[in-house]
Amino acid sequence: SKTRHFKWQVEYLYWSPDGVENVVMGINGRFPGPTISAKVGDTISVHLTNKLQTEGVVIHWHGIRQFGTPWADGTASISQCVINPGENFVYRFEVDKAGTFFYHGHYGMQRSAGLYGSLIVDVAEGKREPFHYDGEFSLLLSDWWHKDVHQQEVDLTSKPFRWIGEPQVMTLTLKKLNDDVQEDEQTIRISAFDSANQRKRAVQLFPSGALWQLVVVNTVHAKGKRAVRAPDSPRAAEQDVQAEGGQHHRIGITQLGDRGQWVVKDMYLFSAILRTLLIIHVSFVLVSQNHSMIVVEADGNYLQPFSTTDMDIYSGETYSVLFTTNQDPSKNYWISASVRGREPKTPQALTILNYSPISASNLPPSLPPVSPRWDDYDHSKSFTNKILSLMGSPKPPSDYHRRISLLNTQNTINGYTRWAINNVSLSLPTSPYLGSIKFGLNNAFDRKNPPDNFSSLYEITNPPVNPNSTYGNGVYMLDFNTTIDVILQNANALKANVSEIHPWHLHGHDFWVLGYGQGKFSAKDEAKFNLKNPPLRNTAVIFPYGWTALRFVANNPGAWAFHCHIEPHLHMGMGVVFAEGVHHVGRIPNEALACGLTGKMLMNNNRN
Ligand code: C2O
Ligand code: CU
Repeated sequence: SKTRHFKWQVEYLYWSPDGVENVVMGINGRFPGPTISAKVGDTISVHLTNKLQTEGVVIHWHGIRQFGTPWADGTASISQCVINPGENFVYRFEVDKAGTFFYHGHYGMQRSAGLYGSLIVDVAEGKREPFHYDGEFSLLLSDWWHKDVHQQEVDLTSKPFRWIGEPQVMTLTLKKLNDDVQEDEQTIRISAFDSANQRKRAVQLFPSGALWQLVVVNTVHAKGKRAVRAPDSPRAAEQDVQAEGGQHHRIGITQLGDRGQWVVKDMYLFSAILRTLLIIHVSFVLVSQNHSMIVVEADGNYLQPFSTTDMDIYSGETYSVLFTTNQDPSKNYWISASVRGREPKTPQALTILNYSPISASNLPPSLPPVSPRWDDYDHSKSFTNKILSLMGSPKPPSDYHRRISLLNTQNTINGYTRWAINNVSLSLPTSPYLGSIKFGLNNAFDRKNPPDNFSSLYEITNPPVNPNSTYGNGVYMLDFNTTIDVILQNANALKANVSEIHPWHLHGHDFWVLGYGQGKFSAKDEAKFNLKNPPLRNTAVIFPYGWTALRFVANNPGAWAFHCHIEPHLHMGMGVVFAEGVHHVGRIPNEALACGLTGKMLMNNNRN
């Protein structure tokens, strides 16, 4: 294992995620941020400089549990003070588990502004995955609004409430992952589709003329059993592209400053792993035409492999899927992603699985695959129920010490629209919890514990009878090393007959998903818990009007966010904070403490 050093600058830059120029929050002059590839046991060290003019920033490493380094979790007001403009922070932590992860801003709505990227951890040298593949790609699914993110923040917190609407596009960013290859040498290119010619053909194909995004994936085929190598020099790569490809290859390359494409002429059977992750808001259904996908990993944990032609992916979730290029090689094929769980106003996102030596400009002869209906929840549930842990995975403790039931409601506070958990809408304090708890600063946040339960009389199928709620920032203090059950209970929103999907994400831990059910959870539902092979995850969804049961062991000293991963929902208060064993936490770097009451404490200590 080794330490991988990165020097990052976060800044606003002009970018055209969908062909429309806009301002994005990028890293080192690009969007999305660089892909980090590492091996189990490595230490990641990111030296981050905030180059924003007037805004603080933090970065969260989603799915990394931060054992022994809770101050590196990158959550504003929870694990650290924001990094001020011009200042630095070093995120140093170990990656202790193989899997698909990502990173993103965790302050205000900086994730929506574009601050994110992939973090892929491979098994340690000499170790093997429990499955085989020849090549590896990462596919980052996200969504993008044309409206400025600051304006979105104001919309969500204004009175009367203004909904930000649906995203203009969904984006698919595909990358070839190549071990120990630097970011700018990675060769597969992804681009927003923007060739006039292609657009015309597209319109012919889709008379609706909808705005759509095409990501061109050039061919990858293996020679014999081994994955081919990328062309050695950037020059060679470019020449290949010209010889082989359609015009928009070059467009893609110039636009994004990328250097080349993989171009291999012969057709061999190639199987690849696609690591997918989802960032912002809408939920996706990913469909690959003709090629079935075998799902093998979720949130950094191996699954009992199962085959599917489409998969539901919710914000905050990650998956690895295997696919084999075993179809008629004289055609190209679609990969598509559509909106799930909200009535779609955003066009389907498309990309091509391109078989060499056919040009990637050849659109597949058939129409893109049709996704299941956005509200076909039975379909979603049947996918979700197939997710079980691989045999031999860690099993949950058979009993729990404490059960916390969390009712999810939409409410109003003085005319503001908010989300609340057990009638408390999270509003983060100015002093980060981690330092405040460790140093016993009693005035840093509400000392009253938030409720472990909600009234058994609450009618989850109706809009709240009394929609009033309150702000709060109390902490669920968990006894160290105890087993905690969380029952997430969904309910009707403010509007009649509306209940949404919410993907809940826990920092600092994985949890076992013991079960899902419809209606209000009751003690007898426990009999249906899966204690045999429940999947370990860090994100789990609650379905409309349903409940989801989770179990985890509070064995990681620190203060940890647990929240809906739909960024606008978190911004409107949909989260809670857990803390455990904080007195075991080692030395917190001063930079993480230099604000609020912990900042005052540091100043006083210096004076004495
Ligand atoms: Cu990926 Cu707290 O989030
Ligand atoms: Cu939500």
